[in-house]
Amino acid sequence: MNFPDYRPRRLRRTESLRRLVRETRLSVDDLVYPLFVMPGNGVERPISSMPGQFNYSVDKAVDAAARAHDLGIPAVLLFGIPERKDAVGSEAWHAQGVVQKAARAIKKRCPDLTVIADACFCEYTDHGHCGVLTEGELDNDASLDNLARAVVSYANAGCDVVAPSGMLDGFVGACREALDEDGHTKVAIMAYSAKYASAYYGPFREAVESTPKSGDRRGYQMDPANVAEAVREASIDAGEGADIVMVKPGLAYLDVVRAVSDEINLPIAVYNVSGEYSMIEAAAAQGWIDKERVVMETLLGFRRAGADIIITYHAPYAATLLARK
Ligand code: PBG
Ligand code: ZN
Repeated sequence: MNFPDYRPRRLRRTESLRRLVRETRLSVDDLVYPLFVMPGNGVERPISSMPGQFNYSVDKAVDAAARAHDLGIPAVLLFGIPERKDAVGSEAWHAQGVVQKAARAIKKRCPDLTVIADACFCEYTDHGHCGVLTEGELDNDASLDNLARAVVSYANAGCDVVAPSGMLDGFVGACREALDEDGHTKVAIMAYSAKYASAYYGPFREAVESTPKSGDRRGYQMDPANVAEAVREASIDAGEGADIVMVKPGLAYLDVVRAVSDEINLPIAVYNVSGEYSMIEAAAAQGWIDKERVVMETLLGFRRAGADIIITYHAPYAATLLARK
């Protein structure tokens, strides 16, 4: 089929024709909204590097979750900023921790909203690494024991899904085993399978004060140069019982999303991270880009790359636009 017999422009002529042949769709059903929960009451502290995002006390986090639910967003992802940090991050598995409290309160207010708890220690440790340190290095197996405690406590608080994000070897198996032993066979695991050592996490680390005090995360997060390794990581996690596998960040890693979704027969999530959000917000604030169109084009791009689930700070914004259409 060649010009002039075939004229691809014929099917681009009107919006209804374009709708008819559209290959990829973005829906509010695809979105997950991350929320940062901190101690206190009535607190809604703006995150300066992420305009429009806040650190919320539990009561305010419940309000934000309810607003997301009203917009039709199916799930929220909770991060905690603890009262006190210590060497092992013990507040992560405290029954009265901020995430546990928020999960209980959100499930009470919106029982059919899916609550996902991010399970990591970098927000909870005084050194900022994602687990226990032994001689300055992240101690994999010692950290797994604490991770098991944390996910069980999130399950006890009513979370539907736990999302281990520390890139520890064996972390999915450790979570599955601990959950099942405690009777939480229905709680799902969304694994941060391919999480890269990325500079795009900068604004998030400001939000939760989780920048490592010394060193960096390159000993556990992935090298940005690798894609075969991402597929390997995702298949290991699938084998250990992951229900959903994730690629993170998103924009610079769309080829990884594609590779993982081609290989792994599980729902694929992508994390549209803080730095990606902040870049759009900053350029839009300058009037340099059309925010509505750039946000929707970005989210659609994740879907086209093969993502089923998009974790994004733009979730409420996009849900509002999708409802208007
Ligand atoms: C840490 C964690 C990170 C993010 C979520 N959990 C990254 C990191 O600090 O290494 C990033 C989220 C974002 O940038 O939006 N386990
Ligand atoms: Zn971490």
